[in-house]
Amino acid sequence: MTEHSTLEKLAQALDGYRLAPRLVEQGRVLSVGDGIAWVRGLPSAAMDDLLEFEDGSRGMVFALAKTRVGAILLNETENLTAGTVVHRRGRVLSIPVGDGLLGRVVDPLGNPLDGLDIPACHARLPLDAPSPPIIARDFVQTPLYTGCKIVDTMIPIGRGQRQLLIGDEGTGRSTLALDTVIHQRGQNVFCVYVLIGQKRSTVVSTLETLRQYGAMEYTTVVVGEAFALPGLKFLAPMAGCAIAEYWMRRGRDTLVVYDDLSTHAYTYRELSLLLRRPPGREAYPGDIFYLHSRLLERSTRLAADHGGGSMTALPIVETQQGEIAAYIPTNLISITDGQIYLDRNLFASGFRPAIDIGRSVSRIGGKAQHPRIKEEAGRMKLDYLQFLELEVFTRFGAKLEQTMARKLKRGRVLREILKQDRLHPLPIGFHLAWLIAFNEGLFDEMSQSEVSTWMNRLEGYVRESGLGLEDAREVWLTHLKEWFA
Ligand SMILES: Nc1ncnc2c1ncn2[C@@H]1O[C@H](COP(=O)(O)OP(=O)(O)O)[C@@H](O)[C@H]1O
Ligand SMILES: [Mg+2]
Repeated sequence: MTEHSTLEKLAQALDGYRLAPRLVEQGRVLSVGDGIAWVRGLPSAAMDDLLEFEDGSRGMVFALAKTRVGAILLNETENLTAGTVVHRRGRVLSIPVGDGLLGRVVDPLGNPLDGLDIPACHARLPLDAPSPPIIARDFVQTPLYTGCKIVDTMIPIGRGQRQLLIGDEGTGRSTLALDTVIHQRGQNVFCVYVLIGQKRSTVVSTLETLRQYGAMEYTTVVVGEAFALPGLKFLAPMAGCAIAEYWMRRGRDTLVVYDDLSTHAYTYRELSLLLRRPPGREAYPGDIFYLHSRLLERSTRLAADHGGGSMTALPIVETQQGEIAAYIPTNLISITDGQIYLDRNLFASGFRPAIDIGRSVSRIGGKAQHPRIKEEAGRMKLDYLQFLELEVFTRFGAKLEQTMARKLKRGRVLREILKQDRLHPLPIGFHLAWLIAFNEGLFDEMSQSEVSTWMNRLEGYVRESGLGLEDAREVWLTHLKEWFA
């Protein structure tokens, strides 16, 4: 019975079939190497077309020449050689997205790297997408707490903001980003940590830290390792962005770390030079600015009638010898809503996190900052900047009036207060406590060495006291005065 009906169906299907010639474009690989392939015989290929090679390798069209096209490889088998047959396969490169990615480590195409099953996702999003239009956006108005004393008080970040972490290698940029991710525990923010061209050891230690602090529950890690195909490293930030985009459009607050975009720019330059695209300044292709701005413009806060979600971005960029005027750093400074500048000398002097407050700025985060914190932090910042100036002045051995000497001592105490260990993000209520205490001079009589002990104890006290941002300043002050006495 079933056999009969199957035959019948087949006959029906064949009934309408007309033999006709069909044009199939079939290309052949001319040469392959360094993560790219040149192909001839695909006259209708367009930029970003996906290519499938006969041996199972895949690629994406990245350069068009008169008689050939250049492709970046997305995966490569050992059998890919000159002469391999190539076909075009559809247009847009997409990645699986959804809650199935939480806690997972994936490559930029969504393939698992953690040895577990393929993530259970029912949706896909293109890696490259237009940024939300102006009418779909809202102002940044909710804070995103990093847990860092300096950032949350003086360089505040709002949900939907793009804040650049800039500095030389080894100044603590990744550490600050990682601490921020760890601090999102219980804050209802989904995180995506994108590692671009990092050493295997860095990847492993990042994952270990995230696991150890229970941050994987709400985090996806996208990895394009140092020795991965350059094509994958190039796609990694777009993949991370697409993953966060899915959640953002469903009304979620998200945070994406791009660690780092200097490596991304190098990779793009490498691919472009290999594929003979015309080089521009510092040999980067002319559209590198467009590439990064298109990526970061996808981070925003959506208006309530568009879901109300947000994507905060923390791109990281590397400077050489503190030179922020180089091409890629200046590009990124101009694209983002502010920068946190980490300084090598500060790091070496033991001031960690090594944030140079004078050179760091948050252009929009202030609007999202809690008014109580803003008010106290404003006073404190002024004191600190004055102190830094004064300190430079006294290096020349100037003799000081007593008021100046007191200001200097107070500044030194403040510098101790602002130091913070890695993996130790702190809640905003605690920031308010030390700000009030400092502004009221409760730390003034302490020696520098006493400060850290008192800060640790204050942390415990604030946790137990149950005091919060909404409590009046007088209430805080009475409690603090009593406690300090
Ligand atoms: N606040 C801090 N306190 C103590 N050590 C830190 C702090 N921030 C960073 N470090 C240490 O400095 C080193 C470099 O930090 P890392 O974040 O890897 O720098 P980058 O990403 O800028 O190259 C790491 O060994 C890290 O543990
Ligand atoms: Mg780093």
